[in-house]
Amino acid sequence: MVPAFTASEKTRHFLALEEQYGAHNYHPLPVVLTRGEGVHLWDVDDKRYYDFLSGYSAVNQGHCHPEIVNALVQQAHKLTLTSRAFYNDRLGEYEAYITRYFGYDKVLPMNTGVEAVETALKLCRRWGYAVKGIPADKAKIIVCAENFHGRTLNVVSFSTDPSARAQFGPFMPGYEIIPYNNLPALEKALQDKNVAGFLVEPIQGEAGVVVPDDGYLASARQYCADAQVLFIADEIQTGLARTGKMLACDHEQVRADILILGKALSGGTLPISAVLADDEIMLTLKPGEHGSTYGGNPLASKVAIAAMEVLKKEKMADNAAAMGTLLRDQLQAIQSSHVAVIRGKGLLNAIVIQHPNPDAAWQVCLTLKENGLLAKPTHGHIIRLAPPLLITAAQIKDSVGIIQKSLSILD
Ligand SMILES: Cc1ncc(COP(=O)(O)O)c(C=O)c1O
Repeated sequence: MVPAFTASEKTRHFLALEEQYGAHNYHPLPVVLTRGEGVHLWDVDDKRYYDFLSGYSAVNQGHCHPEIVNALVQQAHKLTLTSRAFYNDRLGEYEAYITRYFGYDKVLPMNTGVEAVETALKLCRRWGYAVKGIPADKAKIIVCAENFHGRTLNVVSFSTDPSARAQFGPFMPGYEIIPYNNLPALEKALQDKNVAGFLVEPIQGEAGVVVPDDGYLASARQYCADAQVLFIADEIQTGLARTGKMLACDHEQVRADILILGKALSGGTLPISAVLADDEIMLTLKPGEHGSTYGGNPLASKVAIAAMEVLKKEKMADNAAAMGTLLRDQLQAIQSSHVAVIRGKGLLNAIVIQHPNPDAAWQVCLTLKENGLLAKPTHGHIIRLAPPLLITAAQIKDSVGIIQKSLSILD
């Protein structure tokens, strides 16, 4: 069905290094990248690709955006890390910027996405005890089946993906898992007075770009408010213009009690994440009760402002909305019996493949790579399509041509 792919000697050299010296906790596509600019990546043989993964939506602003790189380099020459033992002249400015940008009283800066999720969960439990009055050690947080919130032991404790959990127990108690996009299940779970929060992805990214029904987020938000439960939006993948609005929650005018951001907060240059909330929630944390050596460092502070400026200045949410519609329309027009569904919002999209070969999506991704486009399957049969948000209509058309040609290997 699929032609055998040959890798250059250079490529094989780098694959062999990682194979021998790196932990085998990933299964990358066999391409070795060395350079990026805008929507494009180049491999070590100078072959150019469209990037349809965008570092799992960390590179919304495009690779090596000059304004973000400039902020990074300038600040790197001046001051990079002080720790939070002292003040620095960048953090406060960043805190003011991001809280005004998203309309919250306070921000708690962290680094990776999962650290921000952990922060939000701790904050939610603390609020549950300190403000809501839940009895000691009884706080519960509701989460959704098929979620992806990261890889720490606490977070995989409430994963429903067997590969995330197998042989990692015992797990953290205090979570209740309900089906995603299911309001009656949420309503029922909220009857427990010890529930402190509901953690949800506005679109489930890693699950395969699962878009909930219109109105789900708005209703879920209202149910939470009625039950005095915090609505916690994990917008690490969906936020920062990816889905055609600054936040995916904005599609339903939903304002989360706790907002979690990461990935594109640095445009792919540094691990920068953030938790936003109002004083009633955020000020329940006192000095010494939470933190991170690198969280809120001056380098990250400068870079995050630049990354957010670029999103606004270049109207990337609008472009994501328009190009996303174009992409889905053009994909729908492909006549392939092997495409079960095309779904998504803005430039967070997926093709669901139907084929007797369980490896079909992987084979398509290998073929896409040969044809000059990089994408990765999620959950075996789903291919996520999430290019940087500055992609143009001509580039979408060109990319859809590559996708169409590559899908034909399944015939
Ligand atoms: C919704 C969501 N939450 C959390 C994470 C974890 O982020 P990180 O890999 O930076 O820890 C991810 C990463 O894919 C994500 O998509």
